[in-house]
Amino acid sequence: MSFIRLITLFCCYLAFAKVNGQRTFPPEFKFGVGTSAYQIEGAWNEGGKGESIWDRLVHHFPEKIADGTNGDIACDSYHNYKRDVEMLAELGVNMYRFSMAWTRIMPSGISNEINQAGIDYYNNLIDELLKYNIEPMVTLYHWDLPQRLQEMGGWTNREIVDHFREYARVAFENFGDRVKWWTTFNEPYPICVLSYEYDSMAPGYDFAGIPTYLCGHHLLLSHAEAVELYRTQFQPTQNGIIGFTMDSSWNEPRSDSEDDKEASELAMQFALGWYMHPMFSESGNYPQAMIDRVGNLSMEQGFAQSRLPQFTDQEIEKLKGSADFFGLNHYTTSIVYKNDADNSVNFRVPSYDHDRNTVGYQDPDWPDSGSDWLKVNPQGLYRLLTWIRNEYNNPLVYITENGVSDRGGTKDIERVSYYNSYLNAVLDAMDEGSDIRGYVAWSLMDNFEWRAGLTERFGLYYVDYEDPSLTRIAKTSAKVYANIIKTRMIDLDYLPEPDVLIPGPEE
Ligand code: NOJ
Repeated sequence: MSFIRLITLFCCYLAFAKVNGQRTFPPEFKFGVGTSAYQIEGAWNEGGKGESIWDRLVHHFPEKIADGTNGDIACDSYHNYKRDVEMLAELGVNMYRFSMAWTRIMPSGISNEINQAGIDYYNNLIDELLKYNIEPMVTLYHWDLPQRLQEMGGWTNREIVDHFREYARVAFENFGDRVKWWTTFNEPYPICVLSYEYDSMAPGYDFAGIPTYLCGHHLLLSHAEAVELYRTQFQPTQNGIIGFTMDSSWNEPRSDSEDDKEASELAMQFALGWYMHPMFSESGNYPQAMIDRVGNLSMEQGFAQSRLPQFTDQEIEKLKGSADFFGLNHYTTSIVYKNDADNSVNFRVPSYDHDRNTVGYQDPDWPDSGSDWLKVNPQGLYRLLTWIRNEYNNPLVYITENGVSDRGGTKDIERVSYYNSYLNAVLDAMDEGSDIRGYVAWSLMDNFEWRAGLTERFGLYYVDYEDPSLTRIAKTSAKVYANIIKTRMIDLDYLPEPDVLIPGPEE
């Protein structure tokens, strides 16, 4: 055996030894799974529900969905919610993260019309969860804006702030006696960048550099208003907590060079800092790097003012500290460098990408998943959690989504190793002091994965879309996750015999 091979084997051994064996989560650590309304509920026009921007997109532009499917039925959770709650009980989760469809509660999004059948649906779901001691964690907005509000400009119109606050009020009034965990928004990047800057998510404006920042601004103001409402009128008696769910990859510098480290920092500030800096930093404002770059480029480009809107002092006061916890969705990592280095990419001018001017790519050696954008790199989660701890003075974090896709089947060994390795990264960050109190796996079951339709499956449970009753079948990962929750332990060597941990229907 050559010397080099010996050294390589020794290094592998050290890496393995570090992660080998069993590691435990504290008893109070919460485990859950998540879903969202449009992705699972179906019943798109039943029970008085209004049309959302996703209903509009899939019906008018079916060609934009990879397999031409839509969420009209999806997992039909509107009718099957009791089965879904049974699955949650089989998994033994402490909490279930789901979203409410604004259009089920207010068909046009406006408070002059409240739909009792929609309220009844969520009341039934919440009561069913509580029967099994499963705590509901509710997301108010997971991308399905009422179409009527889109016709008024959606998130680019400041009026939306008041409409969102009124929607939140109805939710707090009707469900706050039993819901103790709220998040206002799920993932601002798809809401503002993929939907206004690009044509990747509904409504698909493809209008770069301007509406994107308006959207982000109004999203933040809507969040702050809803939180103020909750804190002044509901929290004192309902005793819940409220936060915001941020999506972020880790942006790993391409090398140790100062330029690459700056690129990593810029990419982090333009993605995560854009929303979290106003809530978690002392300034209560956007990150300085964003204010400077968008401001300077706007001037050079002939705009009368920065394309990044400004907060008033009063708004800054409202935003500062406006989250009781930091909700984090994380899936993958990018390697980044500055575009100035070689200008290899011609970003549109003006655009969000040009304002940030960094380029990202993934290492082809990282394991693949069922989604092009998702390569497996657990170390990225550890680095991201460390960055958050240092940047925001160790906030209280709940991981509100983490998971991986497949393309079918129930023996999902890759998902088992994804969860084990990412949970291992969470424990590494906790060992170094990160205040992480819970983890929500995405997703309870396969569901409508937006523009990918039904082709990418993120579920712990397999959904048989060919079967009219949409049977759900526990995948291997469901059994492993149930065991992790029961024992509060990950075992990095553990791969189960199928069907040994929880009873599930025959595969
Ligand atoms: C994040 C989103 O919140 C969720 O809706 C989506 O299904 C997952 N990522 C996987 O792409």
